[in-house]
Amino acid sequence: MLTVGTNMAKQPLNIGLIGCGFMGRTHSNAFRQVSHFFDTSFQPVLKAVCARNAQAASDFSQRWGYEIHATDWRTLVESRDIDLIDIATPNDTHCEIAIAAAQAGKMVMCEKPLGRTAAESMRMVEAVEKAGVRNMVWYNYRRVPAVTLLKILIDEGRFGRIFHYRAKFLQDWTISRDLPQGGAGLWRLDASVAGSGVTGDLLAHAIDTALWLNGPIDEVSAMTETFIKERKHTLTGQVQPVGIDDASAFLGRFENGSLATFEATRYARGHKALYTLEINGEHASAIWDLHDLHRLQYFDHRDEGRLRGWRSIHLTDSDHPYMKQWWVPGLQIGYEHTFIHQFADFLNHNDSPNFREAHATDLVTDAVLASASKHAWCTVTQDQEKE
Ligand SMILES: NC(=O)c1ccc[n+]([C@@H]2O[C@H](COP(=O)([O-])OP(=O)(O)OC[C@H]3O[C@@H](n4cnc5c(N)ncnc54)[C@H](O)[C@@H]3O)[C@@H](O)[C@H]2O)c1
Repeated sequence: MLTVGTNMAKQPLNIGLIGCGFMGRTHSNAFRQVSHFFDTSFQPVLKAVCARNAQAASDFSQRWGYEIHATDWRTLVESRDIDLIDIATPNDTHCEIAIAAAQAGKMVMCEKPLGRTAAESMRMVEAVEKAGVRNMVWYNYRRVPAVTLLKILIDEGRFGRIFHYRAKFLQDWTISRDLPQGGAGLWRLDASVAGSGVTGDLLAHAIDTALWLNGPIDEVSAMTETFIKERKHTLTGQVQPVGIDDASAFLGRFENGSLATFEATRYARGHKALYTLEINGEHASAIWDLHDLHRLQYFDHRDEGRLRGWRSIHLTDSDHPYMKQWWVPGLQIGYEHTFIHQFADFLNHNDSPNFREAHATDLVTDAVLASASKHAWCTVTQDQEKE
């Protein structure tokens, strides 16, 4: 006898996705996969998708199985059929869409950086808090099992007093001076759209992870550089000044007294997405590397002397964060799973990082840019007060 399967116990969650580029794909994959692997009380429904180009929106909706597609995001925000607006568009659109979605009473998930500036993201925080709607920002690296395990180990006090936190995020894709700025695919080089260069794009990820793992950053001393000063703009056809930072580095102090060393660049030849972090404490140290994301390197000085050394923990066992939901021990997972984990947590009422937490990252990136332009140390909270 054949039995018809039902999802009666689950509450449908109608999703309206805005933006169907790189992040539109990672999010759609998470919406499709989450119920196959995680238990939640919601059943995600891929209701509508929006992109600027009608053909792209139509192709994307067919490929991923969205019910309808549109070219104006307001159609999704105004639709009574949509419970959750997911913003996966360039940075200059986040604020307007998020505020409209909150005012329409929708849950809002937004890509990072939340705002182009901390002032912009503060308006978004106020809108979601005033409307009382759930909100989350896609800082997905928190959901790499090795990074989540590191958070658990730090919270258990295994590292003792923390002395150092250092992070790097290195790429090499903008080295050619022939690369234009602006338009589809190249909006990251246009400061008016992106807000900043690698500071808001790559450093923001490293800062979010650091704030989560090691607490607030009090002050920073930064330098930035724009190596290619002029590029042709795709939309105007004119050679125009480049307003973004190509490279950004800062020293800083965490509230817990530890020292911060951070670097991000798109000019590190040979590196495509080398995000690494290291933390050194009184008793233990740990290193994580995005290119080997399923491993955590861990050293514990309290181990028996004869056996003391760096361990390479391969996170595939069921007692590792998130791994019980996946395959059998020894078989690893990858990048796309971080988005599935974050969405599963959201469905299970863990919204972290929410807009307010992501705004804290924008306060640090603002301080980094201010420090670089003034050639001076900047206090993160002082910059907040100046807004
Ligand atoms: N979490 C991460 O690791 C991560 C990685 C990459 C990008 N991002 C962030 O995700 C966002 C999108 O980046 P991406 O790489 O997916 O960009 P993308 O250029 O690949 O795609 C952008 C999409 O937005 C659509 N779009 C642009 N303006 C629009 C508008 N006004 N209305 C409707 N649709 C519009 C485009 O049609 C396109 O489909 C950015 O904020 C970026 O910083 C986050």
